[in-house]
Amino acid sequence: MDLLSVLKERGMEQVLGPAQAAGSAAEASLHADLAGVDWTMLDRQRAALKKEVALPQGEILPPDLKPASTSGDPASAAAAARGWEALRAGRVAVATVAGGQASRLGFHGPKGAYPIGPVAGTSLFQIMAGQLLRLRQLSGAALPWIIQTGPGNHLETQTYFADRSWFGLGRDSVQFVCQGTLPALSPDGQFLLESPGALFRNPDGHGGFYRALRNGGIGPKLREAGIDLVYYCQVDNPLVRMADPAFLGFHLEAGARMSVKVVEKTEPGEKVGLIIQRDDARLGCIEYSDLPDELAEERAADGGLRFRAGNIATHCFELGFLEEMAEAFLPLHLAHKQILSLRGGRHLVEQPGIKFETFVFDALPLADHSMVQLAERSEEFAPVKNRNGCDSIATSRHALVARNQRWAGALSAELGAATLEIEAGLCYDAPDLASRQAHLRLRGGGHFLTASP
Ligand code: UD1
Repeated sequence: MDLLSVLKERGMEQVLGPAQAAGSAAEASLHADLAGVDWTMLDRQRAALKKEVALPQGEILPPDLKPASTSGDPASAAAAARGWEALRAGRVAVATVAGGQASRLGFHGPKGAYPIGPVAGTSLFQIMAGQLLRLRQLSGAALPWIIQTGPGNHLETQTYFADRSWFGLGRDSVQFVCQGTLPALSPDGQFLLESPGALFRNPDGHGGFYRALRNGGIGPKLREAGIDLVYYCQVDNPLVRMADPAFLGFHLEAGARMSVKVVEKTEPGEKVGLIIQRDDARLGCIEYSDLPDELAEERAADGGLRFRAGNIATHCFELGFLEEMAEAFLPLHLAHKQILSLRGGRHLVEQPGIKFETFVFDALPLADHSMVQLAERSEEFAPVKNRNGCDSIATSRHALVARNQRWAGALSAELGAATLEIEAGLCYDAPDLASRQAHLRLRGGGHFLTASP
């Protein structure tokens, strides 16, 4: 069917007006833009305008939790042994979603480039690269890293890595895939234009990760390399345990297709998604903005929150499941915003519009087997989201220093109280640090623990 018919069928042909008035260059550009529209998705977007994401129906239960990797629990130790086996067999790849800018932090550049290290200013990306380097040394595996960027930072992120020689990981073992965009709509379901020749689009949310992997041809490449497990994390957490062996082991033991890590929520209103178990025994995640107060505040017999499994957005996937999710219809989440767009074909004005996103965790209910593991917050979760206040640069850095002090305090009491940064790649975790020969440097008012003498 030709473009005009496709638009007419939906009563959307008015989008062509401003380009027709502006001339052939604008018309050609708009036609090219419209040719890239996924009309099935667009019809879902328009339907979603009338019906927002619903909460899970039926009884909701707290999920069963596996013990934390750092708890010393024998079950975690056994799971870690199984995870190491999978790592050594080369079955694991790592993926990080890093689609956002760090504008909320007042920093120009990709969020992963933010210098969170308190002494040497090591960036989030470098901390993660260091963990992977060390895991490669310990496992002998290739451990490829897939970084999902967004249209606003794709080139900048690649340049950032190239300028730093891919942190020693090897150019070919770090793959960048860019998430897609979705057209924003007016409240009555029409396209919005950012110019006569271009639709207003926004990134499709981290749920775009699944399609970005498919479009980048990643699945077949991983399978060819013998990989069937993908560990996934967000870029904003400097305490992340990349490819955590115990998490991988619990996932395998459960025969899970998608697993998730949680921390105990600190208070009902904490801004983390809530992981729940539905009455069909599948998992779900209720985003904090959708969480009803009664559910958030319900208490358990021990006086703590009954629903306390806070999503830290760390997952493990069976590769086949990741590929299936690229074809699945994940729910669309709507953000009502003022959007700078053309009015009357001539002037750009702020007007009400709706942006659409999909979320990675909405795949959880589609997994027939899944697993939830608890993480100790002080060891694994201190995201940097805001410039000030909670989950800020200061709280994240503070948690990083406290964790470093705990790890290094076992080596020397002096380090247990210092402003301390541990060189990226020196160790994977506390027991690993104890096995390493490290040297202490004084640097910029702090202590830096490094491998080089
Ligand atoms: C997110 C989760 C929340 C979880 C919390 C843990 C959502 C909607 N909610 O909250 O359940 O408890 O993290 O820290 O995600 N990103 C992209 N592309 C996008 C949007 C985001 O790659 O289009 C990436 C960002 O770079 C970041 C991550 O996804 O790494 C999280 O996005 P963010 O908007 O910070 O989510 P939160 O609201 O903090």
